[in-house]
Amino acid sequence: MENVKVLFVCLGNICRSPLAEAILENKAFEKGLRNAVTVRSCGTSNFHVNEAPDKRTIAIAKKYGIPMKHEGVQLKAKDFRTYEYIIAMDNENKENILKVAPSDANYQLHLMRDFDTTDKGGEVDDPWFGDMSDFEKCYETLDRCCDNFLNFLVDKHDLK
Ligand code: 4NP
Repeated sequence: MENVKVLFVCLGNICRSPLAEAILENKAFEKGLRNAVTVRSCGTSNFHVNEAPDKRTIAIAKKYGIPMKHEGVQLKAKDFRTYEYIIAMDNENKENILKVAPSDANYQLHLMRDFDTTDKGGEVDDPWFGDMSDFEKCYETLDRCCDNFLNFLVDKHDLK
């Protein structure tokens, strides 16, 4: 069976991308697609390597019943040979991803909100400097995008 590999990328890997990872993983599990999709996340920076997600990220995942187990990792050149889909949360992430990408690697780079139904192509705003309401909004955006992205993967790769 095909296994599609997805890497979500943000700056610190403690707010947006670990939450996206947990949400997509949970949706795949609920649809019986746990073995069809591999989901990981990382940051373009090394600011929070080996650290747990932000307490507010953990709180929001818990609120919505989404299991989360993650330690911060930084994006590496070898990731472009492992992951077929590299999904950036904002345009700055996208620029930083392209700085690390080997020129001959075969991967697809998308913005997370390319898969949104509202403000397609916009950014997933960084909630790090915000409060809990920014984390709520971040969760809602990621939840919508993950629904659409998973449907896209199911169609494109005929996942079962
Ligand atoms: P994230 O948020 O990229 O969504 O994980 C951030 C977390 C920490 C920092 C920046 C963004 N920081 O500068 O430490």
